[in-house]
Amino acid sequence: MKIFIDTANLAEIREAHSWGVIDGVTTNPSLIAKEGRDFIATIHEIAELVDGPVSAEVVAQDAPTMIKEGLLLAKVHRNVVVKIPLTYEGLKACSALSKEGIRTNVTLCFQAAQALMAAKAGATYISPFIGRLDDLGVDGLQLIQSIVKIYANDPALKTNVLAASIRDPLHVVQVAEAGAHVATIPFKVLKQMVLHPMTDRGNEQFLKDWKTVPDQDIIGQTTRWLASRA
Ligand code: E4P
Repeated sequence: MKIFIDTANLAEIREAHSWGVIDGVTTNPSLIAKEGRDFIATIHEIAELVDGPVSAEVVAQDAPTMIKEGLLLAKVHRNVVVKIPLTYEGLKACSALSKEGIRTNVTLCFQAAQALMAAKAGATYISPFIGRLDDLGVDGLQLIQSIVKIYANDPALKTNVLAASIRDPLHVVQVAEAGAHVATIPFKVLKQMVLHPMTDRGNEQFLKDWKTVPDQDIIGQTTRWLASRA
């Protein structure tokens, strides 16, 4: 499963990217608004930083303007994927942009039938929002499982399942087990995915014990040892 980061914050993207785990980035109008910066400059900067798909969302609600916005967004950087809401007009725009060879991410998916429609319209990615479903008392994971199954049943459907609205590390594990192609994850959750108290405790103990070793300088000791054998 690929890991995308779900943010428009450059510092967060830079930090997570430095860990070597980021395959792409998703943004949405709310995430862009949070940063208070120019939309296009932000998308371009992200796309230069991460060499993978970077979702930039259209805001028009009618297909012709969505298509116009999408065609322009795709010109900003080769990594841009045009994000489109799952509406009648969005499907029209998805279909038209796909036919132009532009990659699309159809977003705000809350039921499996919507995912089938997006795939038929040629979506590159479908974004089911599992956390927002969980908030309603509906099992978000079940939606991922259902879409993965529907797509697997028809090899003609090439759409990737991009699990979105991820709230915690367990969500990530569950969608990976369910066969999602991508999970887009907020920075806070990515950080949680690295931490475990037993890791910290084990590391502290190793360092404490190491203090009793006579020569603790690994670099110096190794350099001398290698030189003595040259
Ligand atoms: C998807 O691409 C969205 O940006 C995002 O995952 C929505 O998550 P939220 O429910 O935490 O806002």
